[in-house]
Amino acid sequence: MKLKSIILAAGKGTRMKSETPKVLHKIMGKSILGYVLDNIKNFSDEAFIIIGHQAEEVEEFVKSNYAAYKTVLQTPQLGTGHAVSVVCPYLENYSGQVIILCGDTPLIKEKTLQNLLDYHNQTNSDITVLSAIFENPANYGRIIRGHDNSIKYIVEEKDATTEEKSVKEVNAGIYCVNWEKIKPAFSQLKTNNAQGEYYLTDIVKWGKSRNLKVSAYTLENNEEIYGINSRENLANATKIMNNRKLRELMENGVTITDPTSTWISEDTEIGQDTIIYPSTYLEGKNKIGKNCKIGPFTHFRGEVEVADNVKIGNFVEVKKSKIGPNTNAGHLSYIGDSELGSNINIGAGTITANFNPINNVKSKTILKDNVKIGSNSVLVAPVTVEEGANVAAGTIITKDIKAWALAITRAPIRIIENWVKKVSK
Ligand code: UD1
Ligand code: CA
Repeated sequence: MKLKSIILAAGKGTRMKSETPKVLHKIMGKSILGYVLDNIKNFSDEAFIIIGHQAEEVEEFVKSNYAAYKTVLQTPQLGTGHAVSVVCPYLENYSGQVIILCGDTPLIKEKTLQNLLDYHNQTNSDITVLSAIFENPANYGRIIRGHDNSIKYIVEEKDATTEEKSVKEVNAGIYCVNWEKIKPAFSQLKTNNAQGEYYLTDIVKWGKSRNLKVSAYTLENNEEIYGINSRENLANATKIMNNRKLRELMENGVTITDPTSTWISEDTEIGQDTIIYPSTYLEGKNKIGKNCKIGPFTHFRGEVEVADNVKIGNFVEVKKSKIGPNTNAGHLSYIGDSELGSNINIGAGTITANFNPINNVKSKTILKDNVKIGSNSVLVAPVTVEEGANVAAGTIITKDIKAWALAITRAPIRIIENWVKKVSK
């Protein structure tokens, strides 16, 4: 059976200094919250996203991108414990596990959540906290263990004694709980702490006093719980995520000529022996085949599917398009909302004019196999160029072209002999 998830995302992202809710800021084309929600997809059939600050925007985002998941409003925001308590009415009769995580930690891996869950099950725990060891644990809640090494409680930095502050094991803010056992805690949490909040972390002490089993699963790589509170954090998280992705691609047989200038989103798949040249930026969800050459200076904006042996070169931007095998677009082009077959050559400077700004309609360009597009052509969509047709350089295509035809729109060339000499007298 799949379990339930609760994602805390009601807090104020003050330090972002932004009109956009913190969790909707993007990392390579995908929102912070999107990363968290994609990570739980495989083991959660139901998720509750706790919203508060800028609730309308976050709700709208969830509705249009993760329709299976619910948003639950928390107003006012009285702390992490209070945030989870607002879900209680929805899970009154649920008995099973719940994973609780934060909406602002996009680097957490699905594998880690799975490990946390496995550990929870293997140890027969009622509460399992994801913990991490930090040399400098400032600002995190500390995990306080007894002489027998069992967890006694979690103390927030603001409430901690000097001795408690010296503990290096911290609460990563991600938990797995047996809901039916923990549920009663949410009506019993108190606010007698430095911040006057209902602390979720107090479920540990509550559980211990009722002989529930509390465990901690320790994170191997602290990067995963890097939280985003500022624009600097956002930039750092982007870098961490990118490095992780590039490493993974190289391990799988993709050449990244210059990892320091290459950006590839987590959701981009790339086949073996493809070479990614410097200054390439691939954002959103893309799929690239084997033996391709991408870049230098290529930009994919998402929903791009590229078959094997394709060459996409310098200053080529591609969005929401499919490109067949052995097709080349080597230089200075825009390919948007297009379907390109195989063995196509796209001449330098070719543009698919996909957008009509008068009525805001976007239309498709379809190029069938073996089409050759001459340099500096404009394909005004919607338009289809049938198999093998040839479009002459500098042509503006405004209607469908039949198979194996030549399409040419060009004023006849005039040559006026000795014109320069005459005018420069
Ligand atoms: C929390 C933990 C701390 C842990 C740290 C890890 C508590 C009391 N403390 O502290 O032990 O080390 O996370 O990052 O839980 N939120 C709501 N509603 C609220 C309050 C918060 O939805 O009323 C959300 C925030 O948007 C955020 C998350 O909960 O996504 C965590 O809240 P935050 O205030 O950042 O907790 P920390 O003080 O960092
Ligand atoms: Ca706080």
